[in-house]
Amino acid sequence: MKNKCVLINAKGDSKQLQLVEQDLPEPEFGQVRVKVLAAGVSSADILMREGVYPVDPPSFPFIPGYDIVGMIDKCGDGVKKFQRGQKVAALTKIGGCAEFINLPENDLVLMPPGLDNVESVAIILNYLTAYQILYRVAKVKTGEKVLVYAAAGGVGTAFLQLGKLAGLDMFGTASLAKHKTITDLGGTPIDYKNEDVEEKIKSLTGDGVDVVLDSIGGENCFRSYQTLGEKGRIVSFGASFILHGQAAEPDIQEVFFWWRASLALNLISKSRKVLTYAISTFKQENHDWYLEDLETLLNLLAEKKIQPVIYKTMNLSEAQEAHNLLDNRAANGKIVLLP
Ligand SMILES: NC(=O)c1ccc[n+]([C@@H]2O[C@H](COP(=O)([O-])OP(=O)(O)OC[C@H]3O[C@@H](n4cnc5c(N)ncnc54)[C@H](OP(=O)(O)O)[C@@H]3O)[C@@H](O)[C@H]2O)c1
Repeated sequence: MKNKCVLINAKGDSKQLQLVEQDLPEPEFGQVRVKVLAAGVSSADILMREGVYPVDPPSFPFIPGYDIVGMIDKCGDGVKKFQRGQKVAALTKIGGCAEFINLPENDLVLMPPGLDNVESVAIILNYLTAYQILYRVAKVKTGEKVLVYAAAGGVGTAFLQLGKLAGLDMFGTASLAKHKTITDLGGTPIDYKNEDVEEKIKSLTGDGVDVVLDSIGGENCFRSYQTLGEKGRIVSFGASFILHGQAAEPDIQEVFFWWRASLALNLISKSRKVLTYAISTFKQENHDWYLEDLETLLNLLAEKKIQPVIYKTMNLSEAQEAHNLLDNRAANGKIVLLP
């Protein structure tokens, strides 16, 4: 059958995105065909487009789209748990920005009834990342002090909401214009462009924070380290530095260099730790947690305990514009495409 989708043809800027029509094969054994109702646009798509996605990057051309909510349209042979017409959520990594996608049934989580498609898709990549980093990697405890970089972004706002539910004391860096987002979510904003983050953290906390959630990467990991208290830990999980604030073309080797350099900090101190997280690897290695945690988050949404910040909903044909918004750091929350 024909499938309208967004294709990224080659490494480069948003002009590489094109709306095309492709043939979609029938779902294979154990797969279902899902009609996509909402697809997320994320920083990870930008890293893949620029050829600097560090973990098992897709080869060009590929269809972007890290997370989807959709309706099961057809079940392949061997599918046991699902049936046509059910609404499901999934972390897809690629392929979501399309009318249809074939997925293994083991990757699907049944949606609780009555949920909004746009809000639900905004939960998947960003909140799963935030939830697993807080609970599975940093193993936070009530009352701990946590510094979040890029706190007004998609993952950042998820950290603030989940952190508040967990009783954490949250501090967040962001451009000044985005500070209201942070205060509205109960965090203390830090204007990292005009303030020294280390000094500010020391003046706010006295002895530093327990946890730093660092999606910036590069040299920033060393700044993060300076803000840690005695038994603090950093979770390093991104490389935004490579996309912004440098003149040269993004280079994947630079990402790997700084990643290794930040892990070397573990040799300095036994009490402070640098930990890492990559959602796709984590999902492969801990598939049960992926299903369990996504289900937990969708239930939290159904109970209205979390409320994703949606920046904009757009059509599939506007994917290029969506990428431009992320390239220009304009988005304050999640961008969702509606096929
Ligand atoms: N490891 C994983 O599994 C995983 C999963 C999801 C996301 N991530 C990573 O997490 C990061 C955030 O993702 P997101 O979807 O939340 O992004 P987002 O919503 O697009 O937010 C990104 C924000 O980060 C800030 N920023 C960008 N570059 C910066 C820099 N060099 N220094 C300081 N701040 C910078 C900007 O906000 P200001 O205007 O406030 O500066 C920007 O708007 C990305 O690096 C992404 O790849 C990793």
